[in-house]
Amino acid sequence: MPHFAIGASDFLLDGRPFRIVSGALHYFRVHPDAWADRIEKARLMGLNTIETYVPWNAHSPRPGVFDTSGMLDLERFLREVAAAGLYAIVRPGPYICAEWDNGGLPAWLFQEAGTEVRRYEPKFMAAVTQYLQDVLDIVRPLQIDQGGPVLLVQVENEYGAFGNDGTYLKAIAETIRGAGITVPLATVDQPIDAMLEAGGLDGVLRTGSFGSRVGERLATLRRHQPAGPLMCMEFWDGWFDNWGGPHHTTSVAETAAELDALLAAGASVNIYMFHGGTNFGLTSGANDKGIYQPTVTSYDYDAPLDEAGNPTEKFHAFREVISRYADVPDAVPLPSGRTAPEFTAQLAEPIGLLAAAPGAWSEHEAMPTLDLLDARVAIFRTELRGGGPALLSFGEVRDRVQVFLDGAPVGVLERERRERAIMLPHSRGRLELVVEDQGRVNYGPRIGEPKGLIGPIRLGADELTGWSACAIDLDRLPRLWDAAGCTPAALVPGPAVWRATFELDGPSDLFLRSDVWGKGIAWLNGFNLGRYWSRGPQWTLYVPSPVVRSGTNTLVVLELDTLPTTTATFAGAADLGPTEL
Ligand code: GLA
Repeated sequence: MPHFAIGASDFLLDGRPFRIVSGALHYFRVHPDAWADRIEKARLMGLNTIETYVPWNAHSPRPGVFDTSGMLDLERFLREVAAAGLYAIVRPGPYICAEWDNGGLPAWLFQEAGTEVRRYEPKFMAAVTQYLQDVLDIVRPLQIDQGGPVLLVQVENEYGAFGNDGTYLKAIAETIRGAGITVPLATVDQPIDAMLEAGGLDGVLRTGSFGSRVGERLATLRRHQPAGPLMCMEFWDGWFDNWGGPHHTTSVAETAAELDALLAAGASVNIYMFHGGTNFGLTSGANDKGIYQPTVTSYDYDAPLDEAGNPTEKFHAFREVISRYADVPDAVPLPSGRTAPEFTAQLAEPIGLLAAAPGAWSEHEAMPTLDLLDARVAIFRTELRGGGPALLSFGEVRDRVQVFLDGAPVGVLERERRERAIMLPHSRGRLELVVEDQGRVNYGPRIGEPKGLIGPIRLGADELTGWSACAIDLDRLPRLWDAAGCTPAALVPGPAVWRATFELDGPSDLFLRSDVWGKGIAWLNGFNLGRYWSRGPQWTLYVPSPVVRSGTNTLVVLELDTLPTTTATFAGAADLGPTEL
């Protein structure tokens, strides 16, 4: 069997120096039927390794569950990497950051009082141990010394940016070893002395995460990793976008020059990202350094392969740089040159969300959090028995609430704008609140914070109690028209679910224009394409061809605000919005 090890100055593959030229490709952000295509293109760019994180919360939406179906089939992904003749790096966290909801930590972890995440705390450690066991049961037989592709496993992720509980970090490494992982382990940290200090472990290779000033960063890393190979575990070649910000791109020439400097220095690299993919469903995270900034649906990342898997200018520039240091296959993937089909379809038969309320209702004295309801969108109802105008106020809005009185819209409060109060024109009748979680923070101390309307909720000076809550079952929305009691109406005030059908001759990637709508979620043939929002920058949603059918296709849209047009427009190409320059 092949053997991979850490030598005095290099990685060693069967005793010979080996440079890892890897690219990040998250299986959970790409439709499984497109994995082989993306992996093959990585090989053609000259990569010899594919790196992926593992998102704990996606695999384990509830305690005791470990789902490996469809887009979560890590074993199939690793086998496809091996079939392409590439190696693999697995980064199971338990925390992954990655602009992913909660940085990959399941929301249910935070339900039990006293659980402290990313620390040596018994309740957290028990859950992590079970999770790592489940993931590593898949990885163990796929390690290189057992005939598989996996040559490196990462411990935690940028731990030095979060904490300094060395006992915890050591326990994670020991749990990984205890689960039968025999390949070398690594940690990653930003190249800052204090972070490399707190995030590193003796006997585990320290690596860095950075995208510029390569010489200086490698020198910092070398101080903390005096011997062994130098590796940039995350060579940031682009960046992610937040709603309300610009679309980020980086200069091809400058990024290629930094990659060149890294390879010229003899370092190994994992290009973050090689292909970013998409935050399908409600999987995107958020940043909060004082201002809450949710991440958009696209994870294009301005990577060498764009969101739809087409090689960009950066692909060709990186391939050329890599060819100076390693053999690169002769074949070059062609730019697709195709535009996606352009057409329109009519959204119709709206069903009001407040009236249909598809989901489980429960009764609560005090306002429950979304986490308690296991909901990402929920409706809360109570009867007001006052009279005249009154101020409705919340402790904190996480992340957006739409307010209705007797079915009529009163206004919207948003966390980003730190809005917490709204004047009700009268205080008698049915108060309804539609609350949306826009993505959990994935970096820094706010990971795991509860979502929803954080109390107390007051009408004037009095706390409002006695709530009926409906946890919206989003998976049911694409099938709402089949449900008893759900009748389309001509005009619906407030959130509504719409549908359109269209015919296509065959599957093809599609780009759904969303800038013409308000804020919501879209599905094609039951597949959740993710959130859209007119504020941008993302103005089209990517529809991967494997979810498109030849024949009749059904588009379903949950519009929370207002649809200025009921025309659904499919564009020829992606529009990820304006850049800063
Ligand atoms: C850090 C994290 C990654 C990702 C990048 C930014 O390096 O380790 O998971 O969040 O930042 O894209």
